[in-house]
Amino acid sequence: MGSLPFTVSDLQTSTNGARSSPTLLCTPLMGTTVDQMLIEMGKAKEIGADVVEIRLDCLRTFNPRQDLEILIKRSSLPTLVTYRPIWEGGQYEGDENKRQDALRLAMEMGANYIDVELEVAHDFNSSIDGKKPDNFKVIVSSHNFHNTPSAEAIGNLVARIQATGADIVKIATTALDITDCARIFQIMVHSQVPTIGIVMGERGLISRLLSPKFGGYLTYGALEAGAISAPGQPTAKDLLDLYNFRLIGPDTKVYGIIGKPVGHSKSPLLFNAAFKSVGLDAVYVHYLVDDVEKFFNTYSSIDWSGCSCTIPHKEAALKCMDEIDPIAKKIGAINNIVRRPDGKLIAFNTDYIGAISAIEDGLRGLNGTIPSAGSPLAGKLFVVLGAGGAGKSLAYGAAQKGARVVVANRTFERAKELADKVGGQAMTLAEVENFHPEEGMVLANTTSVGMKPKIDLTPISKEALKHYCVVFDAIYTPKDTRLLREARETGAVVVYGTEMLIRQGFEQYKNFTGLPGKMHHIVVEALKHYCVVFDAIYTPKDTRLLREARETGAVVVYGTEMLIRQGFEQYKNFTGLPAPEDLFRQLMEKHA
Ligand code: ATR
Repeated sequence: MGSLPFTVSDLQTSTNGARSSPTLLCTPLMGTTVDQMLIEMGKAKEIGADVVEIRLDCLRTFNPRQDLEILIKRSSLPTLVTYRPIWEGGQYEGDENKRQDALRLAMEMGANYIDVELEVAHDFNSSIDGKKPDNFKVIVSSHNFHNTPSAEAIGNLVARIQATGADIVKIATTALDITDCARIFQIMVHSQVPTIGIVMGERGLISRLLSPKFGGYLTYGALEAGAISAPGQPTAKDLLDLYNFRLIGPDTKVYGIIGKPVGHSKSPLLFNAAFKSVGLDAVYVHYLVDDVEKFFNTYSSIDWSGCSCTIPHKEAALKCMDEIDPIAKKIGAINNIVRRPDGKLIAFNTDYIGAISAIEDGLRGLNGTIPSAGSPLAGKLFVVLGAGGAGKSLAYGAAQKGARVVVANRTFERAKELADKVGGQAMTLAEVENFHPEEGMVLANTTSVGMKPKIDLTPISKEALKHYCVVFDAIYTPKDTRLLREARETGAVVVYGTEMLIRQGFEQYKNFTGLPGKMHHIVVEALKHYCVVFDAIYTPKDTRLLREARETGAVVVYGTEMLIRQGFEQYKNFTGLPAPEDLFRQLMEKHA
């Protein structure tokens, strides 16, 4: 089975295909009694479902005439009645004629939809020919619990379903790989009849979430996390609140996090909330990816606009990129991938940007810090503890900012290898204890020492900490590690690991959207109406106001500029001569 890459034209047809109304959200009712189902109906309505699926096969006892009357008449939402037999993955084991009689009865009693299996659909549809009420539709379904067949085989299946006289086609297959969803998307986009396409299993999640993008007639959302009617089904609440299901349409740009495992990631929560808050037509999903290359080859059109990348793909994804940010390339790991308008993939490592910018702000916050045009890390002695992935990010990031880097690691060889690459010095963790060639050094811990549950540990003694002016810990569980507590006690400015986490997210958001992150959302909102922003403050030179103004695209004017220019004016008044501007500037820089 080949996976078919998406082209722009594939997506464009989605607006011309069978889609005529927004994708419905259907919540299956799995109660074992009629009373339970009535309670579930109320909850489904409250959550915001459009349709309830009454799964008759879940009822322990079933009296067709009496129970259908209650369930259909009392439902405040449109009803879809399903009586799934065991041979199609359901729970009904009884007589086939009785089963079909119950479905016909549901139709007569006012159900809006019934779901009938392909195996029996031809005869069933003939039996109701000419008897269908207005606004009643038959869904003919096919379930494959083993795999997702080739595009051609699925196409043939759709034709067979259509030939039974189905009003709505439903195909549910099983995802062995996330790229299986692509074939179902293609079917939904091209189908001339309303189609429900679902790829079951965790790897098929995007088939459910992105149903509105590809013109699916309906998608299923469970009432509760434990109450799913098929593998991989999200809850209705997550569809609506986490993934902004109602805001997804054909033009929605798709972002996500690729990883394995990935379900625990909170990134969709953050990004979808951010997209919604600025009215961006974009969604951010969980991508459970086994084979990164296959993933990028399959989802290759510009609608697949970018992704975050987590364990274990941070290194493997490098091979699939058209362009890589030079520092990310040196670090050898990426975590942020953006598809440019020309379709090319460009990758970044925002972990190092997040950590370094947090440490720079820590330095800027020091009392009496000399404002300078460049990074406050320039010239600083920067000690990185650890030489793993995070250690590399910090060491390369600090070196790029002009810091003198020292890498200290439990295993000296790894420290040496990294230190050589960044033009720094290597030592063991033990040696750091007595290392203080100067005061006011910067320390960054990237080892796991002090992380939950061993929160009493610390990678360096409190005594040694007194030579550092800023101490950063990449650990964020707990937020306040022993290292940071002791650093604070010795008078250092501390920078939390959570700050790195948050900032790397801001950077990703900026890369994805070209917009400033949510961090300073309100300030940024206020600033975006200004083309030039001046700050009379000159300690520090680069104030937060000016940094944020720059993010909004404004030209910034530093307070130091006012200071220097008023000096020129004084000189002219004193002497009647033009001021030696270059000399003034040089002297200001030197003695600022
Ligand atoms: P990450 O990608 O989070 O940096 P990593 O690549 O596994 O994770 O690196 C973990 C770092 O923590 C390494 O520098 C490791 O030291 P070694 O290279 O000697 O293994 C360091 N580390 C882990 N446990 C440690 C411990 N108990 N004491 C000191 N250093 C430790």
